[in-house]
Amino acid sequence: MNLTEQVVRSFQNIENERHRFLITTFIRKLHEYVNEVKPSEEEWIQAIRFLTDTGKLCDEQRQEYILLSDVLGVSMLVDQILHEKNEIQTPSTVFGPFFIENMPVRPYGGSIVRDGGDKIKPLLVRGRIMDTDGRAIAGARIDVWQTAENGMYSGQDTKQSHDNLRGTFLSREDGSYAFQTHLPVSYPIPDDGTVGQLLGYAKRSVWRPAHIHFKIEAEGFQTLVTHLFLEGDEYLANDAVFGVKERLIVRFSEQKADKNSREEYGLTQDYHLIEYDFVLTGVSP
Ligand SMILES: [Fe+2]
Repeated sequence: MNLTEQVVRSFQNIENERHRFLITTFIRKLHEYVNEVKPSEEEWIQAIRFLTDTGKLCDEQRQEYILLSDVLGVSMLVDQILHEKNEIQTPSTVFGPFFIENMPVRPYGGSIVRDGGDKIKPLLVRGRIMDTDGRAIAGARIDVWQTAENGMYSGQDTKQSHDNLRGTFLSREDGSYAFQTHLPVSYPIPDDGTVGQLLGYAKRSVWRPAHIHFKIEAEGFQTLVTHLFLEGDEYLANDAVFGVKERLIVRFSEQKADKNSREEYGLTQDYHLIEYDFVLTGVSP
């Protein structure tokens, strides 16, 4: 019996069939890879060191392995496999490493800007949460998060308030949602770790096009994890994590403050506007 089969057999006592399949297939593919590339001792040690250093960078605030998965295209591959595509549902994209749970629930039209927001032109994002038949989904939980002007997320940048540019909103009876923020900026993914070294070595860009993250949950529907990207961003064609999808690119318009914006959203100055409807797919019975 060859070595690979011997190792695979040594895991045959795992009772859960799926877990056994996951582990033994991994071993087969890993052995196949090693057989193909025939690493030198030094290369093998370097691989171990790379994985060790990547692990050391992970803690509550930073997840270098998710970033590694992202830049290797694995996150988008998992996304492609898991989320059945139909023409109507809103496409999903990478979750990314910067989500923080349990952000405050803010009222319809509320702002997620906590730090220094009065200096930047507001952006109103609004639309509806709907099912694939166009019916409103009420009470959907919408988590949003984005970077500050310096291209960093709260949590990553300790100078920002914990809940700066993050918040949770609930869709209304007619499925409508709205919140205020400011235009997102393009930003480099953290390049001071192993992932940055890898991208630098490959002469790859570390930039991501400007985007706002969304996680939308509603009972009876598949959770949607996605972004909205800004039309015209210079990095749309070479996102470091391969996350851009055409239908997630949106145009923003310039709006004058008027009676309606003042009364409905408290917007007393001119603002940017993005209107976008999200379509969720039901969980199959
Ligand atoms: Fe992001």
